Amino acid sequence: NALAKQHGKYIGTATNSFNLLGNNPGGAYLDILRREFKGALTAENEGKWDAIHPTPDQYNWAGMDAIVAEARQSPEKVFVRGHTFVWHAQTPAYINQMTDPEQLKSALRDHAMNVAVRYKNDWTYLDAINEPLNEDGTLRDSVWHRVLGEDYLEIALNIIHEAAPSIKLCINDYNIEGVNAKSKGMLAIAKKLLERGAPLHCIGFESHFIAGSMPQDIAASMQQFTDLGLEVPLTELDVRVRVTGNDQASSADLAVQANDYRTAVKTCLDNRLCPGVTVWQFYDPISWIPSLTPGWGAATPYDANFLPKPAYEAMREAL
Ligand code: XIL
Repeated sequence: NALAKQHGKYIGTATNSFNLLGNNPGGAYLDILRREFKGALTAENEGKWDAIHPTPDQYNWAGMDAIVAEARQSPEKVFVRGHTFVWHAQTPAYINQMTDPEQLKSALRDHAMNVAVRYKNDWTYLDAINEPLNEDGTLRDSVWHRVLGEDYLEIALNIIHEAAPSIKLCINDYNIEGVNAKSKGMLAIAKKLLERGAPLHCIGFESHFIAGSMPQDIAASMQQFTDLGLEVPLTELDVRVRVTGNDQASSADLAVQANDYRTAVKTCLDNRLCPGVTVWQFYDPISWIPSLTPGWGAATPYDANFLPKPAYEAMREAL
């Protein structure tokens, strides 16, 4: 992050409040987070609707409050990213079961008036809408799409912006990092929203890559959005490799992975409207990848002994 700052960018990480206690995972985690990745923080799970607002009258503030407190401790600006409001996953049953448009809109308004307003001075960005697209670029099924129709993105952005106008609102998704059907769908949506004057400020490229097959046209895809004046951060970067046994990767694969980390960081550096890069945890043993895709892992820049991998060196070199 210190190197990124010299270019006006940040390097950040996803984390959890329990990761910040110093005993889970322990070791050098907190030191490394503070030294290397504290340009930006995203709550890996504790800002999601099911975690922070599981029933209509219940709010769990402790997790997000702890992450925000960690950010506030810094003398320098830490870009805390709110994650996430409108999504098809990790959303509580009371929302998913709604069928009445007015009821769903008022639930979102209530959520925004409580959650976004509470963090309005802390969150620079919010993933207002997460993962709205199918792979073919059409709108994915969700309670939001079903109940509010295809205008749901505009409706949601307006409701959230009205509650907390200082927060930059983003649409965040994966597999839009290359020029393909999905990113074309996102581009069409972004253009339409901007034409209609909707409060959309950024498109998040999640950037969950497979070593050796990250899209080589990521800079071109990014530029399609930044040409519209939108910011495009990399929001959830990790690069998985094949692993055996105890998350063991080959050194050949780790070299390919390092190259992908280098490309990702360089792409951000080369585009004025990419504010920075956030990794989705930086320490292999607590990455979400092995549980998502068994047989794959070692996706972050630090290994199980808290030693920097070639991926870390490649990020440094790119900066
Ligand atoms: C993942 C978390 O890392 C896991 O701990 C959780 O079990 C599932 O969600 N896209 C997103 C993130 O926007 O919120 C997801 O995070 C990873 C994919």
